Amino acid sequence: MSAIDYSQKIPNNVDLKSDKRLQRALEQWQPDYLDWWNSTGPTDFNMKDVYLRTAVSVDKDGWAHFGYVKMPEYRWGIFLEPGDPDRKVGFGDHAADPAWQEVPGEYRNWLRRLIVTQADTEPASVEQQRLLGHTAPSLYDLRNLFQVNVEEGRHLWAMVYLLHSYFGRDGREEASELLERRSGNADHPRILGTFNEPCEDWLSFFCFTMFTDRDGKFQLLALAESGFDPLARSCRFMLTEEAHHLFVGQTGVGRVIKRTCEVMQEHPGKDVREYGAIPLETIQRYINFWSSSSTDLYGAEVSSNAANFFRAGLKGRAYEDKYEDHTALDGAYTIDRFIDGKLDRQEIAMRNAMNEVLRDEYIKDNLKGIEYWNRITEKEGVDFTFYLPHRRFNRSIGDYAAGRFDVEGHPIDEATWNARAQDWLPSDEERAYVKSLMKPVYEKGKFASWIAPPLRGINSQPIEFEYVKL
Ligand SMILES: [Fe+2]
Ligand SMILES: [Fe+2]
Repeated sequence: MSAIDYSQKIPNNVDLKSDKRLQRALEQWQPDYLDWWNSTGPTDFNMKDVYLRTAVSVDKDGWAHFGYVKMPEYRWGIFLEPGDPDRKVGFGDHAADPAWQEVPGEYRNWLRRLIVTQADTEPASVEQQRLLGHTAPSLYDLRNLFQVNVEEGRHLWAMVYLLHSYFGRDGREEASELLERRSGNADHPRILGTFNEPCEDWLSFFCFTMFTDRDGKFQLLALAESGFDPLARSCRFMLTEEAHHLFVGQTGVGRVIKRTCEVMQEHPGKDVREYGAIPLETIQRYINFWSSSSTDLYGAEVSSNAANFFRAGLKGRAYEDKYEDHTALDGAYTIDRFIDGKLDRQEIAMRNAMNEVLRDEYIKDNLKGIEYWNRITEKEGVDFTFYLPHRRFNRSIGDYAAGRFDVEGHPIDEATWNARAQDWLPSDEERAYVKSLMKPVYEKGKFASWIAPPLRGINSQPIEFEYVKL
């Protein structure tokens, strides 16, 4: 089961060749996918050799192979973690029933919606990042961008396999629509807000991979618990790949911070912009923007959809194992609701609070990243403390979208917001400054003025390795 068959047009470990109909359907989707990649994926680098990792096995150790690949020749495939024939549904009303190998009819629409929503984020991020190759701060970073891009493409494959394989004609239609929506397109946008935001500079890219890919991690963790076994097994393997995307974000922002600190120490009292670095305050405002936008991705605080998905055994909690009670029928969750302009503490039935439960895990994980960045300023001897804005700050979805909140979560009026927003979110001038720094550095081992080199290279290669052959 875990051996990947690379002799096929579509590499896979699901014995695709034994299901001719499915194989044909996916082979028909494949050229459309490549058209999408060529027209909306990374521009102008498709003929270059990039030092990429490709999944060659789903074993925990040694799952990836590194080598030069031209992106359109990347072996996008379908890889599921090995199944356990005795696996049970882990939560909800069906807890302890055998896990489903086929779509349970009564939940078909919900399940399809969950898969399509996850699937849509994968091509969206590739579209958002399409122009970044032109301004990469180094070959190392250029390679990491492309690694993230090809793997988001593979995540789309993972979800499209489920749609084709288990949802018949509707699934095939959804799969083609996934190639038709476009990030930021007014008439045909991607499904979720953050995935329509422009991501035009590398500080945004690093914040995106830190905060938005981390939303992806927690959505995948929740879906990895699904009672629909093929979905759970797909998501588990996606999580293996996702770890690198989060690494790119966390260390990327960290290297920008480090570089600024170095400039501050070398030129005390000077404006770091004179030396082509990014002020720490600007970095904080980018953090505020991308973390608040990504916090929206969990949906409303009180949600009957989330309760239904949990009850049905389709979408669980991250790390469901750590809970004792997998039904979540008893017990309440305390939420500060925002009703008629006032915060009001309420007890909510646990199942209705599942979005909030997942958001809590996400925030905890984000805070670890903030701590990591504060260790960098500390080590560099710079007196500056990064923070994560409160979950109520700058929200567009849920209760808090109805009001204004400062970065500590206190309600404020519109006038205060208008006066303070520029302290908290990047201004146009600030964005223009960051953009003005975005000039490509393609020389081996060299880095742009605004970012420190990484501690080590990829796959034990030196930092000055030729990660992309231009
Ligand atoms: Fe992904
Ligand atoms: Fe990702």
